[in-house]
Amino acid sequence: MWDRECASYTVGPMRIGIIGGTGPAGCGLAVRLASVGFDTVVGSRSAERADEICRGLLAEWPDHELALSGAANAGAADCDVVVVATPWEAAAAAAAAVAAELAGKVVISMANALAKVGRELQPLAPSRGSIAAAVQAAAPRALVSGALHHVPAHDLGDLKRPVDCDVLVCSDHPEAIAATIDIVGRFPGVRAFEAGTLSHAGPIEAFTAVLLQLNAAYRTRAAVRFTGLGPESG
Ligand SMILES: NC(=O)c1ccc[n+]([C@@H]2O[C@H](COP(=O)([O-])OP(=O)(O)OC[C@H]3O[C@@H](n4cnc5c(N)ncnc54)[C@H](OP(=O)(O)O)[C@@H]3O)[C@@H](O)[C@H]2O)c1
Repeated sequence: MWDRECASYTVGPMRIGIIGGTGPAGCGLAVRLASVGFDTVVGSRSAERADEICRGLLAEWPDHELALSGAANAGAADCDVVVVATPWEAAAAAAAAVAAELAGKVVISMANALAKVGRELQPLAPSRGSIAAAVQAAAPRALVSGALHHVPAHDLGDLKRPVDCDVLVCSDHPEAIAATIDIVGRFPGVRAFEAGTLSHAGPIEAFTAVLLQLNAAYRTRAAVRFTGLGPESG
């Protein structure tokens, strides 16, 4: 169980694992998590590949003390908090494969179900309403939250700059919302907000298609900022 009080004292030793952490999103998230003090494990179907990716990330940021290591996905799932950062098609199966390790843990799903149709990336309608809900069904004893869907991987991984984006967090478990907001809210520039139950994960995930369309149309990296919400996370 997540203990918010405890969490604030265990940032150093707290371990966060990323299943499918070798892609742009996982790598960006890994360096950002490590930069704010989390011991971060990049998971992969190949532990060797994860090691190699971590060596590259460490070489990229020599002036930062990043606690980053590579492991098989099972090693990432062994951490205190786990992120699922595979492509959407693989997210539920990846969680199911390590469901026993995920029991009782906060598991953050950041996958967006999108498909290229002509020149557009369009949102799909996953069978359980969202990929986060499918991950929750695949690992029923985990405390799944949906978060980080709208943050461009490049911005997560650029430690020279704050992350200029708000993050919506949804879950059926209040402790998962609290933990996710606490973790993500540590990233400079990020405001993280509670956005309800996993029933809201579908529209949150689908909105990513709109952002990507804006990126394509305006050749930029659009992100989300809300008005009417306070300056603080949570
Ligand atoms: N890219 C972004 O800016 C961004 C931002 C927010 C959210 N997201 C979401 O984050 C997720 C990851 O995005 P990404 O761009 O990093 O994706 P990606 O590069 O396509 O995939 C990430 C990693 O998942 C693993 N993987 C691929 N196919 C798999 C399969 N069939 N089974 C298990 N693992 C598999 C691969 O690692 P190994 O081969 O090493 O196992 C791969 O490096 C996506 O769902 C995306 O919607 C992306």
